[in-house]
Amino acid sequence: MRDPQKLRSARWFAGPDYEALVRRAALRSEGLGPLGFEGKPVIGICNSWSELTHCNVHLRQISEAVKRGVWAAGGVPLEFPTISLGELFMKPTTMLFRNLMAMDVEECITANPIDGVVLLSGCDKTTPAQLMGAASADLPAIMVTGGPQLSGQWGQQQIGSGTDGRLLFQEYRAGRLSDEQLAEVEGCIARSNGHCMVMGTASTMASMAEALGFTLPGAAAIPAVDSRRYQLAESTGRRIVDMVWEDLRPSKILTRAAFENAIRTDMAIGGSTNAVVHLLAIAGRAGVDLCLADFDRLSRETPFLANIKPSGRYLMEDFYYAGGLPVVMKEILPLLDGSAITVNGKTVAENVAGVKCLRPDVIRTLSEPLHAEGGTAILYGNLAPDGAVIKQTAASPHLLKHRGKAVVFERYEQLRAGIDDEDLAIDENSVLVLKNAGPIGGPGFPEWGHLPIPAKLLKRGVEDIVRVSDARMSGTSFGTDVLHVSPEAAVGGPLAAVKTGDEIELDVPARRIELRVEEREIQRRLADYQPPAVHYRRGYGSLFLREVTQAHQGCDFRFLHALSDEEQVGGGFDPRKLP
Ligand code: FES
Repeated sequence: MRDPQKLRSARWFAGPDYEALVRRAALRSEGLGPLGFEGKPVIGICNSWSELTHCNVHLRQISEAVKRGVWAAGGVPLEFPTISLGELFMKPTTMLFRNLMAMDVEECITANPIDGVVLLSGCDKTTPAQLMGAASADLPAIMVTGGPQLSGQWGQQQIGSGTDGRLLFQEYRAGRLSDEQLAEVEGCIARSNGHCMVMGTASTMASMAEALGFTLPGAAAIPAVDSRRYQLAESTGRRIVDMVWEDLRPSKILTRAAFENAIRTDMAIGGSTNAVVHLLAIAGRAGVDLCLADFDRLSRETPFLANIKPSGRYLMEDFYYAGGLPVVMKEILPLLDGSAITVNGKTVAENVAGVKCLRPDVIRTLSEPLHAEGGTAILYGNLAPDGAVIKQTAASPHLLKHRGKAVVFERYEQLRAGIDDEDLAIDENSVLVLKNAGPIGGPGFPEWGHLPIPAKLLKRGVEDIVRVSDARMSGTSFGTDVLHVSPEAAVGGPLAAVKTGDEIELDVPARRIELRVEEREIQRRLADYQPPAVHYRRGYGSLFLREVTQAHQGCDFRFLHALSDEEQVGGGFDPRKLP
């Protein structure tokens, strides 16, 4: 269909009425001549650029490349901003605002004269927020992520943001690194524009966007400052115009097969545990019924192949030179649904048909994986009846089966104040527990789950112990961290009942996390449990606390989930049918 009258934007700009005239006049005030826009698809460029989001600060240049492509293909690009979420700056946590950004994205798309949209994201939450918003808006949409930074380099040592930063800071806390050395690290760990360049949450979510079929093939790993990222952006601008004429919408791409492909890819790359929460939320927007059990089933069947930090040795630049995500997807193609359609109109199988691995030490084969199972394992037990997650490939092998006595902190502030207390009764066999760090308790589900190792253990050379919390963890982190315990302590989950001295048993191969306390005693403690004070009584924070779902449900707002066909009956606003 190449009928300009059928374009959604024609409802704003076409026709002899006064409203259309003033809208055309508004575009002409931006310097566009009538021949420049009439009858052409209007392409929104949804830009999360912000100087408060350092990972996304180059997206204005990326946007210029997208615009070139849109013009060349016969479309009209109109760039617009939304809120942006800078992982390192926002307090209490960007996760508190992911849903707000998703609402902003959805409403900006649906309220405006847009036929198709190019999403520009980068930092951790900006990618899932845009995918959630675009899934709900369901107009033709394609994504360009900002790309990873160049590899960090300290002297002869290649260092990865987050992962090596934490390791080196741990060395500093143990007294093995000087102030001067730490200052050097600060100056060379983030060497360019782009997002964190390990397989942290940003790289993982960029990979998930590609695996879902929402970017052009090969998009996730191109370094942010590589000219090929700009060439990709230009191609994306060209492609969205055709997607409008083809009416290729997110609802045709975000199918159950696409989500299963993404989960398997996530397992093969050793992706961030945050991908679990975000994929659940995106699926909820797309009306795909996904649950934690799907992750565990697919994880057990999918080997871990990508030798990237924090689970492996290399960085995203190496991953790109090895061939990037298409090589991983080609390798696991026998496990994927190769018929899933992607934004370029081709199937997953067609997209990866000709790719070759250029560095077999960076991307392993199915016959020689780094680990027989996927990066993330889902745990259940009386401590996490609705589930918990662990990045098993970034955990210490000797701790994957472990039984130890709990050392409990009720709140994060308490943990920060007390963790390095010389009198803290803790050793390498202890299980460190933090409560009240989930969606409600945090609030906002902060990344506190990589609980610090007490300095006195670090000085003795102990670098990992079992840690359990209802928090999330940065995708750049590593260690035996049991995360996302659901339901969280603040809503009366069993984690609330744990006391210092209780025994906790972790058995990752059996996918169990158990509190070895009599069930009657657990119930007695929960009956006495006093939840923490409510964090917000007004504003967006109070909306968040009222509407957010638990970790195992994706932490979206209840009222933003896709409606079923029955729920649609009798109303419901459809932005595609605007008068
Ligand atoms: Fe933005 Fe790490 S701080 S991706």
